[in-house]
Amino acid sequence: MTSKTLPALVAAAAAALIATGATAQSAKLKVGLMLPYTGTFAALGVAIENGFRLYVAEQGGKLAGRELEFVKVDDESDPSKATDNINKLIKRDNVDLVVGTVHSGVALAMAKAAKDSGTMLIVPNAGADAVTGAMCAPHIFRSSFSNWQPAYAMGEVASKRGARKAVTITWAYAAGNESVKGFREGFEKGGGQIVKELNLPFPGVEFQALLTEIASIKPDAVYTFFAGGAAVKFVKDYAAAGLKKSIPLYGPGFITDGTLEAQGADADGLLTTLHYGDSLNTPRDNAFRLAYAKAYKLQPDVYAVQGYDAAQMLAIGLKATNGDIGKKAEFAAALEKARIDSPRGPFVLGKSHNPVQDIYLRQVVGKENKVIGVASKALADPGRGCNM
Ligand code: PHB
Repeated sequence: MTSKTLPALVAAAAAALIATGATAQSAKLKVGLMLPYTGTFAALGVAIENGFRLYVAEQGGKLAGRELEFVKVDDESDPSKATDNINKLIKRDNVDLVVGTVHSGVALAMAKAAKDSGTMLIVPNAGADAVTGAMCAPHIFRSSFSNWQPAYAMGEVASKRGARKAVTITWAYAAGNESVKGFREGFEKGGGQIVKELNLPFPGVEFQALLTEIASIKPDAVYTFFAGGAAVKFVKDYAAAGLKKSIPLYGPGFITDGTLEAQGADADGLLTTLHYGDSLNTPRDNAFRLAYAKAYKLQPDVYAVQGYDAAQMLAIGLKATNGDIGKKAEFAAALEKARIDSPRGPFVLGKSHNPVQDIYLRQVVGKENKVIGVASKALADPGRGCNM
């Protein structure tokens, strides 16, 4: 039994509550990192985490006064495990927010779990259109792109360069399908026509029969979406099949980003569209590239930038809420009016929380995706189906 009087007990309880409230804000912020650390996208997951950690380190290891604690899950780019994986972070580990992922099919399952549980989600790559379309939500944000954005821009570029008949080749999953759809929209608007859509299952790399088919169709251009390890192999196989010298190969810049060391001369000259490039030569990007190279002994790529910007977005939201990520409306309001100072160039978020950004036209010169122009200025995803 306690010897304290009732008022003293109440006062002690109130003091304890206040103390708990205070620790909630000064306790470490638990960040769930759900990324691919194995498989064809493994290097992309690592680059995203590197970029994220670099920004946090530049802030002295704290955002809005809070230290960060990371809980990591390898999602293996496997949609069939995605719901279980994100629920481990949300329900078992009680993370304050989730940052992920690369693969669109996995991201769609993550967006659903984030919506169902009200968990804050920042997507640092996956372009699934619905994440900032039909599934949009006040607490879901993207630091990267929608599949539609670079694809639509490339459709316009290809038609302006005189291509009339194109063949597309990609993996049959959300990102491949949506990339082809975006390309079709831009290409047909300029008078082009897709004469054949070729597909293989993710993450397959058996390209040979499909390349033989392309050789027999003889289109004016080939449009492709692959990334990571598969992008390396596709570019090498395309050249080895003798197609590189006769049929221009176009695609969103994932086909040559983070892959040039391994692709070597087989990538030389390729034209791609993307929201980042290696030769922006702005003070902001130069500082970022130097810091990244120093920290990781590696050159950054688009994935590193997207991870870095995911951390910047988190910092903006936390600053506006004094470190309390539970204040979702204030967190969202701050991001909706922010101008994010990205190495890619400053960007704002559109109504559905997807970056409104310049899509650059790039050409591979040696080991660089050299920016040779802006394919589409301040391109906003249409956010189809988003009601918020
Ligand atoms: C996607 O699945 O959305 C995806 C994967 C890899 C990329 C780009 C998009 O490089």
